Amino acid sequence: MPMQPTSKTIHCPSPEALPAIAREVIRLAGTRRVICLTGDLGAGKTALVTALVSELGSDDGVSSPTFALVQDYLSVHQDPQVIHHIDAYRLTDLNEALDIGILEFLDDDAWTFIEWPEILTSVLPDHRLDIDIQILPDSTREIVILER
Ligand SMILES: Nc1ncnc2c1ncn2[C@@H]1O[C@H](COP(=O)(O)OP(=O)(O)OP(=O)(O)O)[C@@H](O)[C@H]1O
Ligand SMILES: [Mg+2]
Repeated sequence: MPMQPTSKTIHCPSPEALPAIAREVIRLAGTRRVICLTGDLGAGKTALVTALVSELGSDDGVSSPTFALVQDYLSVHQDPQVIHHIDAYRLTDLNEALDIGILEFLDDDAWTFIEWPEILTSVLPDHRLDIDIQILPDSTREIVILER
């Protein structure tokens, strides 16, 4: 029997809580280096990536790579140092992702954060974190972290 993925739910009352949540995500990641983020437009995926990049020791400003598709940040103290940030929102098929070298990004040992990962599902590693962010009626967020 394959191991059931375990999940953890964290309530995020405001963006100020994101640094602590990012530290917890990094802890839960263990040896995983691929983290997928799902959730509606404006749910807070990029905001969490920003907190993760900052916790990993990069001062590089995170912006939404919606147009660039992939952006790299450099961490000053983590090994490996490169952090990939992919936003697949505008991808219409997997071949476009393969053309920009998605397999190389996934295969190196660098942290890789992926917003809108759905179209990439078939090439994602099994060993990864899936994070889903829900906007609650009071506009706070519920963050569900699945350890695959
Ligand atoms: N935990 C939170 N609580 C309240 N507001 C938040 C929270 N996280 C993010 N926000 C706010 O939501 C807005 C949108 O966040 P963000 O751009 O990160 O969303 P996104 O999921 O990346 O959207 P997209 O699908 O367009 O990439 C930002 O203004 C941000 O400050
Ligand atoms: Mg975003």
